[in-house]
Amino acid sequence: MYDQIMKSQYSFEGLKVTAFESRRANEIEKLILYHGGVPRVAPSMREVPLSESSEAFKFAKELLAGNFDMVILMTGVGTRALVKAVAEKYAVNDFIKALRKTTIVARGPKPVAALREMKLKVDIVVPEPNTWRDIVATLENEADIKGKKVAVQEYGISNKEFISALRKKGAKVTKVPIYKWALPEDIGPLKDAIKSIVLAKEDIALFTSSQQIYHLFEVASKMGSKKKLMGGLKKTVIGSIGPTTSETLHRFGLSADYEPDSPKMGNLIREIARIGPTLVNKKRTANKNGVSTSNWRKVDMIWSKGSHKKRKEITRNSVFMKACRLEKTDYTPVWLMRQAGRYMREYRDIRSKMTFLELCKTPELAAEVTLSAVDRLDVDAAIIFADILLIVEPLGVGLEFSKGEGPRIKRPVRSGKAVDRIKDFDPESLQHVYDALKITRRALDPNKALIGFAGAPFTVASYMIEGGGSRNYENTKGLMYKDPGAWHVMMEKLTLATTTYLNNQIDAGADVVQLFDSWVGCLSRDDYKEFVLPHMKELVSKIEKETPVIHFGTGTGALLDMIKESGSQVLGLDWRVDLAKAWRQIGYDTAVQGNLDPVVLFSTHMEIRKRAKKILDKAKGRPGYIFNLGHGILPKTPVDNVLALVDFVHEYTQK
Ligand code: CP3
Repeated sequence: MYDQIMKSQYSFEGLKVTAFESRRANEIEKLILYHGGVPRVAPSMREVPLSESSEAFKFAKELLAGNFDMVILMTGVGTRALVKAVAEKYAVNDFIKALRKTTIVARGPKPVAALREMKLKVDIVVPEPNTWRDIVATLENEADIKGKKVAVQEYGISNKEFISALRKKGAKVTKVPIYKWALPEDIGPLKDAIKSIVLAKEDIALFTSSQQIYHLFEVASKMGSKKKLMGGLKKTVIGSIGPTTSETLHRFGLSADYEPDSPKMGNLIREIARIGPTLVNKKRTANKNGVSTSNWRKVDMIWSKGSHKKRKEITRNSVFMKACRLEKTDYTPVWLMRQAGRYMREYRDIRSKMTFLELCKTPELAAEVTLSAVDRLDVDAAIIFADILLIVEPLGVGLEFSKGEGPRIKRPVRSGKAVDRIKDFDPESLQHVYDALKITRRALDPNKALIGFAGAPFTVASYMIEGGGSRNYENTKGLMYKDPGAWHVMMEKLTLATTTYLNNQIDAGADVVQLFDSWVGCLSRDDYKEFVLPHMKELVSKIEKETPVIHFGTGTGALLDMIKESGSQVLGLDWRVDLAKAWRQIGYDTAVQGNLDPVVLFSTHMEIRKRAKKILDKAKGRPGYIFNLGHGILPKTPVDNVLALVDFVHEYTQK
């Protein structure tokens, strides 16, 4: 059964896929075919080995004379080719010995593997994704290159920016080009591919190296078709093997519509096959609606120029919204708590340029992060990028996110007086969240729901009182027990603020709202009933009536019947409870969401499918079920595993 499911996934569904790979042309053709695409492979380069030129020999001679302090090896193929070329003239053993005397730097695992074959140990390995900037940054930390004689093995074209960055740091750089690239002897296939792209007859174009892009445009220029090629590419989904290739696309005014995390041909084809039909539809729809799709961002998308009302109606009938209302759906909808976060390259790229709070407060970027996750995962709902603690800043207690330690409240609330000092919530202070929702909703597929969210009063109060995360909630429960009056005032303030905040999010475009009561499971039933439930009832009753509320907490197994009393339409379950039992107890008149242990995503695809199937079988295809994890996705989760999970849920439950 699993085999069958695996086969039906990852399919281009007959899309036309062009690739420009040369050395592994046969392999890429087979991969495209295997994944259900119609391949057109137009090799774009011919390798001219260095044994025909003198530069490898020149390098070997200088190396043997002890003239280099450091050798940077950029590629595995290049490393092997260098040795092969040198071997035509010199004793390989002498060459290896001389290399051993230098500091050997390898860009990623491939040169490392090539060097291992020669029993050479690498001194510095540059971690992936290893663009030239990563190499410079790694060297900055691990070696002093000032005044050092550095040889750089180059592959294909020389990287001017990289060489000049090394020279700026004071290194004396010698370039050792291993291959020079030439156009293939027969450029007929390349010309045909260009003609086909120009006519928008190709659906997807795959670039597996930077050089392919240079050659494609060189030939297009020769044909006088450069502009037309750019025009055609506006309607063609562009796949890029990795960050270096994507950077080259940028130089040509293009952007990659998909780039896998691992720069491998297999990953690129498999991942782009699964989402290809969706991306082709998206890019062509955008183009039709007047979006400039050459070098575009996720927020630039326009799905329809139709009325706001029409869009809302489509979203209302989406699989996700139907499930919230306990209606039957064609398949089980899935999204993942914290789906836009550190485990994703797209997030890390944006986040590396600013702090977490700055990112939350920049609506265009928060929206871009939200949309990137949906595009990458193909989940049924987007969750706005923000944090449950943003609300505490306008309440006047101060908020900080320190590196590695998580959130910190600057002025913890520890007394009745401090409760009185909590400021009235000014809803406009979180305008950036509403703006991010507006931007996201405009660019998001109408068939997908947009989730707004807030922390539930108890969990937000726990941060405000403890000053950060906590194990036992001594101060929180301390205030609750010692000064119940102050506790209830604090909860009332938070309830009012949260209600206003969420209704504003709904006005800005949130289709559903989720309340994160992450830590409420630390309470006894009696305490929940007395100190939390009345406020939750009040909160949920004041949320705009047409908008479903998802109510999530962890460790809540013993509280579920009371949490239901608060009136939310969907209950989020953590992984500790048995979904079948919990739902029976809650009653099938309330929808449920959950509850795979997030740590399962660190296992194998097979194990993930097995465990997801168990949960889906417990839900029994009943209306009102939304698949999710039992808590947020963890920062080191492999994206590839997340894709496998999302696809499995969709495939297995498809009616
Ligand atoms: O789900 C999403 O993709 C939307 C974004 C989102 C974030 N936080 C972004 C974030 C959501 C829904 C949250 C909710 C949140 N925030 C909760 C409730 C959910 C849960 O996991 O229980 C809680 C308790 C917080 C408070 C919070 N924010 C903590 C404890 C931390 C630090 C610890 C950690 O996990 O990193 C944050 C920071 C935070 N919030 C990050 C992200 C992406 C990491 C910030 C970074 O880039 O360094």
